[in-house]
Amino acid sequence: MKNLFFWLLALSATSPTLADDPIECGRYIVEVIGACGNCHTPVGPEGPDTSKHLAGGMTFEFPGMAITVPNITPDKETGIGAWSDAEIIRAFREGVRPDGRVLGPLMPIALYREISDGDAAAIVAYLRTVPPVNNATEVSRYDFPLPDNWGPPLGVVPEPDRDDPVAYGEYLAGPLGHCVECHSPPGENGLPDHHNQLAAGGLTFPGPWGTSVSPNLTPTGLAQRSDDDIRQMITTGTRPDGSPMLPPMPFYAYANLVPEDLDAIIAYLRSLPPK
Ligand code: HEC
Ligand code: HEC
Repeated sequence: MKNLFFWLLALSATSPTLADDPIECGRYIVEVIGACGNCHTPVGPEGPDTSKHLAGGMTFEFPGMAITVPNITPDKETGIGAWSDAEIIRAFREGVRPDGRVLGPLMPIALYREISDGDAAAIVAYLRTVPPVNNATEVSRYDFPLPDNWGPPLGVVPEPDRDDPVAYGEYLAGPLGHCVECHSPPGENGLPDHHNQLAAGGLTFPGPWGTSVSPNLTPTGLAQRSDDDIRQMITTGTRPDGSPMLPPMPFYAYANLVPEDLDAIIAYLRSLPPK
């Protein structure tokens, strides 16, 4: 089923919308552009543990934080299967769980607040179809007070304009794909500085692979790269000189981006103020 979906996707230039098919639209967001599994699926020595797809358990240690990513499969006991659609949407878009507890980092909530109502509904439709996995995860520890909320309660979040490549690319690289979360350097508060240094690169990711640093994706950083080079890097994880890209760049998910979305992302990156 999954292979058939990606095969059909390869033949179509455009990604599914909620109106076309809620589950396929949600699958494309969660598994391709959103790469939710990059955090929510635990990684073993052989790569992502497919028997625990989206079942959480990965841990991240930073000064003052011991973060464990939760289970977002529909398991009623250890996942989100007992939550209503509205509760799930509120959790990933506003960062508030049904019991009122606010989510901490690393969820890119500031960006996810702008996921459209249609795309949010599609994400839930798809998450309900994922095999439930019983996998209890630790509660994250944050040694500092989390904010009371990540912003006022959301009203209607409109659909993006899919006919304007730069605007749609901004939506893909921001709210849906969080490229700018990893590719913007930290500001004074330690969070990615989208305001002054959007996509300017320089966030560091220590891990078993050593330390990777996100490159500058503004026109300064991509000046020497053709559109084909950028397409290849995003979807294969290999640079034009043949060198492989390190984690956590989720190119394995972006391998299934439809051509129109890749073009929109590139159009948007080329439109950014050079940094
Ligand atoms: C960069 C890592 C990262 C990415 C990408 C990510 N998440 Fe999360 N997510 C987390 C972490 C960490 C938490 C828990 C934070 C905490 O413990 O307070 C979380 C919590 C959640 C929760 C609340 C579950 C619970 O039991 O508390 C939901 C729902 C969720 N994520 C859905 C998603 C969806 C849907 C996507 C993709 C569109 C996604 N996440 C992408 C890291 C991530
Ligand atoms: C979870 C963090 C993360 C996310 C999300 C992410 N990237 Fe990356 N990206 C990286 C890191 C880290 C590197 C550098 C890897 C290395 O040094 O080998 C990288 C490398 C790249 C490169 C190679 C640039 C060069 O000149 O070498 C491109 C292009 C790129 N990312 C584009 C994107 C786009 C477009 C998106 C969103 C669709 C995205 N990235 C999302 C972390 C991320």
